[in-house]
Amino acid sequence: MKRLIALLEVYAILLNFCVNCEITVIEVKYPLEGQRSPPNAVWPHPQQINASLDLLYIRPHDITIFSNIETCDIIAKAIERYDPLLFPPKLTMHEPPSSADNILQSVSLNIRDGGQCEQYIQPTSNETYTLTISQQIAIVESTTIWGLLRGLETFSQLVYINKDNYVVINSTVNIVDSPRFHHRGIMLDSSRHFLPVPIIKKNLDVMSYNKLNVFHWHLVDDQSFPFESEAFPELSAKGAFSADHVYTPSDVADVIEHARLRGIRVIPEIDTPGHTHSWSKSMPELLTVCWANGRPNQAVYGVQGEMEIFNPSEPRVYTVMERLLREVKEKFPSNYIHLGMDEVYDKCWSSNPNVSAWMQAVNITSTKGLHAYYADRVLNIMRNIDSIPIVWQDVWDEQVELPTGTIIQVWKGGADNSWASYLNNAAKQGYNVILSTPWYLNYISYGKYNTNTSVMNLEFFKYYEIEPLMKFTGTEEEKKRILGGEACIWGEFIDSTNVLTTLWPRASAVAERLWSAATLNNSEDAQFRLDVHRCRLLRRGIPAQPILNGYCGNYELGMAKSMINDPVFNYDESVWVDVIITTAQPSSTKSTTPNIASPIHTFTSVGLFVITELLFLTIIFS
Ligand SMILES: *[C@@H]1O[C@H](CO)[C@@H](O)[C@H](O)[C@H]1NC(C)=O
Ligand SMILES: *[C@@H]1O[C@H](CO)[C@@H](O)[C@H](O)[C@H]1NC(C)=O
Ligand SMILES: *[C@@H]1O[C@H](CO)[C@@H](O)[C@H](O)[C@H]1NC(C)=O
Ligand SMILES: *[C@@H]1O[C@H](CO)[C@@H](O)[C@H](O)[C@H]1NC(C)=O
Ligand SMILES: *[C@@H]1O[C@H](CO)[C@@H](O)[C@H](O)[C@H]1NC(C)=O
Ligand SMILES: *[C@@H]1O[C@H](CO)[C@@H](O)[C@H](O)[C@H]1NC(C)=O
Ligand SMILES: *[C@@H]1O[C@H](CO)[C@@H](O)[C@H](O)[C@H]1NC(C)=O
Repeated sequence: MKRLIALLEVYAILLNFCVNCEITVIEVKYPLEGQRSPPNAVWPHPQQINASLDLLYIRPHDITIFSNIETCDIIAKAIERYDPLLFPPKLTMHEPPSSADNILQSVSLNIRDGGQCEQYIQPTSNETYTLTISQQIAIVESTTIWGLLRGLETFSQLVYINKDNYVVINSTVNIVDSPRFHHRGIMLDSSRHFLPVPIIKKNLDVMSYNKLNVFHWHLVDDQSFPFESEAFPELSAKGAFSADHVYTPSDVADVIEHARLRGIRVIPEIDTPGHTHSWSKSMPELLTVCWANGRPNQAVYGVQGEMEIFNPSEPRVYTVMERLLREVKEKFPSNYIHLGMDEVYDKCWSSNPNVSAWMQAVNITSTKGLHAYYADRVLNIMRNIDSIPIVWQDVWDEQVELPTGTIIQVWKGGADNSWASYLNNAAKQGYNVILSTPWYLNYISYGKYNTNTSVMNLEFFKYYEIEPLMKFTGTEEEKKRILGGEACIWGEFIDSTNVLTTLWPRASAVAERLWSAATLNNSEDAQFRLDVHRCRLLRRGIPAQPILNGYCGNYELGMAKSMINDPVFNYDESVWVDVIITTAQPSSTKSTTPNIASPIHTFTSVGLFVITELLFLTIIFS
């Protein structure tokens, strides 16, 4: 019976010949609330968008994208990148009918008012752009190349392939768009599990499809030290899982360059004084030996590891930190370094007799005070190397005085939404803040119960319905200090097999919240637009998980086949497959440009269709 149902499903899909077709939601028992999405909804939703319902044709692989700043490598490379995004490989696309005269002629990316070819996006870069389509010409305008990048992404999302396999776009469009928050990020943890460079780069691609602009790289932690330092190569030589589980200087440069071209800043995190067990493999003298029952080197599980936290009384801690942070600053062009400083499980400090003796000698009366002492010295190093610190909220909670300009990343207060008043306070005290509490995407669950439909809502609703300023009472000046937010995905149960699937499209909900207007807050409507966006991600080779029941063309079939590298479906140009194969030796030379559409897919579908139909008839008549 199961087999029969499976066959019927395949049959139903093929009967439609719906290879390119738009997202199809199947509702049976519970009609869903919310407004249905157009097939080319832009995600995140623009601040203002007006468009006609009538359409222009686009000639497949034949639309010229001009720019008055084409010599800028970021723009030139973006133009190259967008061909396979506009015209997904392996899809059947027809030339417009010969009689048609409503054909989009060109796309222009125009920089205005003396905008320059900048090298790196900055924390306050202006990403505002306009996009207009009229008289068969599309024009994206901005005063910065970053605005042009965001506008080009929007243009690519407006293009779609309709049921008759024509490539089309609305014939009149007026968009005025800009982000609500400057800081819109994703944090990846590459210590608890290693994340190969191709996966990190793929994730940067998806971030750019969602107009996110900060990659917060939690590089090292207790479990491993994959960052290969030139000053201290022993840290990764002994602290990484293996010689293959490292980021070499050229890997790091590769990630930064990939991000740069997409208007994304890379902020490295070197988390200390806690979360440092992996350092002990090569530099045990930096760590505090934890004591228990009158003996050194004792783990008390659930309380302390045997060595898991720096020893602030050890002078070499500060010489190593200074050299390492200097190197990190040189390698990462963003002028920010995340210092961590979270979860200082101070029982280890108080267990160690030497640390206690030293504290007494220098008149530090509590482990809180010891944390403050350590933080002060490292913040001083940051001042010396002229780098701006970001810290998890813990260190401010311990009343350490932070220099002006410090960014506090808020991750606590989820149970009662007390993060909201925390933002208020921190901004009042003059600190800059980024919000992560409601957006720990490593936690997986269903969403809230909907009394109208008697079903659990999708989990993404709860990320979407967060209003960062829900309790904000401060001045306009203080409001500017709420820089934005980050979706975090901690690595306990995440590695290259599931990081993209778990993040996307759940992180897209965060992306829209941080980009679009606060008044765009109906998640019932958003679910249909997000579903369209999820299908778009599949079309672009991203294994994003489902949002609603139904299917999107045949993309998810292609994805399933590509994941097990099935040559029958011939979807092997998907970069996803490369990623799995090249784990040990991430290669930057591999071409990621997919081939243009070939007839193989159509042939396979028709072949399958004939076979299935025969089977179907056999079952019916036997
Ligand atoms: C663009 O055209 C499509 C197809 O007619 C329509 O569904 C959609 O609503 C239009 N887009 C906008 C933003 O109005
Ligand atoms: C960004 O640039 C636009 C012009 O494209 C301007 O109207 C706007 O005020 C600028 N925004 C900021 C925050 O400077
Ligand atoms: C869209 O249309 C509305 C109503 O006509 C108008 O107020 C608004 O300025 C238009 N927005 C754009 C970006 O053209
Ligand atoms: C304490 O310090 C002494 C003298 O420096 C050293 O020999 C001893 O190993 C230290 N003990 C611990 C637990 O760190
Ligand atoms: C130690 O600190 C306390 C509290 O700040 C202070 O009252 C005391 O004078 C200090 N003692 C020494 C020896 O510095
Ligand atoms: C249930 O439906 C009512 C009426 O349409 C609406 O006002 C309410 O917000 C809905 N509740 C939920 C939980 O969706
Ligand atoms: C959602 O937006 C509407 C306006 O569209 C506003 O009245 C309402 O307060 C918003 N709700 C939240 C939770 O922000």
